[in-house]
Amino acid sequence: MENKKTIAVLGATGAQGGGLVRAILNDPNGGFSARAITRNASSDKAKELKNLGAEVVEADVADKASLKKAFDGAYGAYCVTFFWEHFSPEKEKKHAKNMAEAAKEAGLKHVIWSTLEDTRKWVPLDDDRMPTLMEKYKVPHFDAKGESNKFFVESGIPYTLLLTSFYWDNFIHFGMEPQKGEDGELAITFPMADKKLPGIAADDIGKCAYGIFKAGKDYQNKTVGIAGEILTGKQMAEAFSKVFGKKIRYNAVPAETYRSFDFPGADDLGNMFQFKADFEDYFCGARDPEVARKLNPELLSFEKWLQKHKDQIKI
Ligand SMILES: NC(=O)c1ccc[n+]([C@@H]2O[C@H](COP(=O)([O-])OP(=O)(O)OC[C@H]3O[C@@H](n4cnc5c(N)ncnc54)[C@H](OP(=O)(O)O)[C@@H]3O)[C@@H](O)[C@H]2O)c1
Repeated sequence: MENKKTIAVLGATGAQGGGLVRAILNDPNGGFSARAITRNASSDKAKELKNLGAEVVEADVADKASLKKAFDGAYGAYCVTFFWEHFSPEKEKKHAKNMAEAAKEAGLKHVIWSTLEDTRKWVPLDDDRMPTLMEKYKVPHFDAKGESNKFFVESGIPYTLLLTSFYWDNFIHFGMEPQKGEDGELAITFPMADKKLPGIAADDIGKCAYGIFKAGKDYQNKTVGIAGEILTGKQMAEAFSKVFGKKIRYNAVPAETYRSFDFPGADDLGNMFQFKADFEDYFCGARDPEVARKLNPELLSFEKWLQKHKDQIKI
């Protein structure tokens, strides 16, 4: 135990961090131990991680001193921000800065920053193909993460910028499950026309992160992009139809229509899907399922993911 390298994991009770904590705990001879960071060590989810063998500590990404304490003595940290908790890119940047500074102060040997593109490098604010949101962003929850890369790159600690992909889990938790249209048919809806969307099981992000830590220097000071599979809306709908044994079609809508949907963040997601569609070659090229499979041999395909989670998808 004493010789193990400790990984301090932000978001440990959530999707990405939870996957990493479980990957570490499932590999007791792997040479790593998991320190799960939560705001509330007495929650059921935190207790569950403790029972599985994780060390559980409390910290808040808004409080740098608490992060420094949570990172002290660790070998590495998994850093992720929580946009959908507050919908604020400004908070996201502040939280990322706190994490990078705390990691530096704690003298960590390797930090993974879970990031996404700053889309303004492709679509400047004066490009009116999509609206500018919150005055200075095109895709707020992407741009703030990409802009924050600099905190980690400039920190001087070995870092990996991990470019994640669309979670297929959004079909369970984010209200994106197939819905009945006016024609009475079930359909999944994206504003992507016939373009491809890199997707991944959220759990596999954490498993890939574990692979990155295990590989030591191989992925340090680099950007690594991961996906489970890269599929068009039509291909995803075909997989749904096969697994559920009923017709589920792909409903391609214009990005303007998606932006006008009545849920919080629809404009942000409409811009995001448009960015992914308009820059398909770049975006898909930056995320390689083969790299992800090398890091995590258990990587799921979309069909395998659907089979595993069929009962959780409300159809
Ligand atoms: N949905 C997608 O398709 C997708 C794809 C790529 C990237 N992302 C990004 O993923 C990020 C979220 O990661 P996730 O999905 O792993 O999160 P998640 O499942 O929502 O879990 C977040 C966890 O973080 C903890 N947390 C929340 N606020 C915190 C704070 N102030 N300080 C410390 N811990 C806090 C919470 O744990 P406690 O309550 O225990 O503290 C929570 O369990 C977002 O920024 C999103 O943009 C999402």
